[in-house]
Amino acid sequence: MQTVHHIAELRAQVAAWKQAGERVALVPTMGNLHRGHLCLVERARKLAPRTVASIFVNPTQFGPNEDFAGYPRTLADDGRQLEAAGLDLLFAPEATAIYPRPLAEMTQVSVPGLSQLLCGANRPVHFGGVATVVAKLFNLVQPDVAVFGEKDWQQLIIIRRMTADLDLPVEIIGVPTVREADSLAMSSRNGYLSAEELAIAPTLYATLQAAVEQWRAGDREYIALENAAKARLAAAGFRPDYVEIRRADDLQRPEGNDAEVRIFAAAWLGRARLIDNLAIT
Ligand code: PAJ
Repeated sequence: MQTVHHIAELRAQVAAWKQAGERVALVPTMGNLHRGHLCLVERARKLAPRTVASIFVNPTQFGPNEDFAGYPRTLADDGRQLEAAGLDLLFAPEATAIYPRPLAEMTQVSVPGLSQLLCGANRPVHFGGVATVVAKLFNLVQPDVAVFGEKDWQQLIIIRRMTADLDLPVEIIGVPTVREADSLAMSSRNGYLSAEELAIAPTLYATLQAAVEQWRAGDREYIALENAAKARLAAAGFRPDYVEIRRADDLQRPEGNDAEVRIFAAAWLGRARLIDNLAIT
């Protein structure tokens, strides 16, 4: 595996692969890798003969009071895991390579509507930062296909929407959420949890699963289901941000017999903001 920090080196290697007619798959990450990230790499390797991962803790997707400074940076260990996973190229740029000018003076990508819902309601700059950095990574790597996790479902559909709206020639693939044995969705932010909080954390999944079962049993009072889920999370020690039952494709409220409905939640546990989502239908 090759590790490059500079855009010119990245472009030269990708150009050589393209010249040889080889397809390229990209897995964007912020590092501090776990088995969820490695599953994306595994999928990428099945989709294209050449795989690129990026590790970049993207400042523009963090709000002013969020955890940008404290976000775990473990590049050496991440590199070892990616190499063992059979990755071809790791792109780990400096912030100045991605944002050479003050942010306020740089072009940004926004995906209106979808970016303001759910996580976007409490994190107003987040999805604009994600869309901007992913658009830049797509232009830098020029992948044929890019792989994202369903754990961040809202992010996944915002990237699909951006790719469609900007006519970017990249196929977007979603990979199901990888979980711990106790069903907690794997996340780099789980490292913020104390032993006591780690024992509580699986309640997030269990709460969503209980709502799914009630819906499947015929209960369509979705506001009541959401409120019951929030109350259960609060009783377990979380500070719930939201629990929402929404259509999978556009995050609007379900109506009648929508084909695909999911339940989404975000809740604080100590200093970690955990998110999860499950298919209902
Ligand atoms: P990060 O949180 O590092 O996640 C990188 C990718 O891994 C995302 O596509 C995310 O959905 C996926 N992922 C995380 N946990 C997962 C799990 N338990 N199972 C399956 N996939 C999982 O998401 C980001 O970084 C950033 O916003 C990024 C897209 C890189 C833009 O900066």
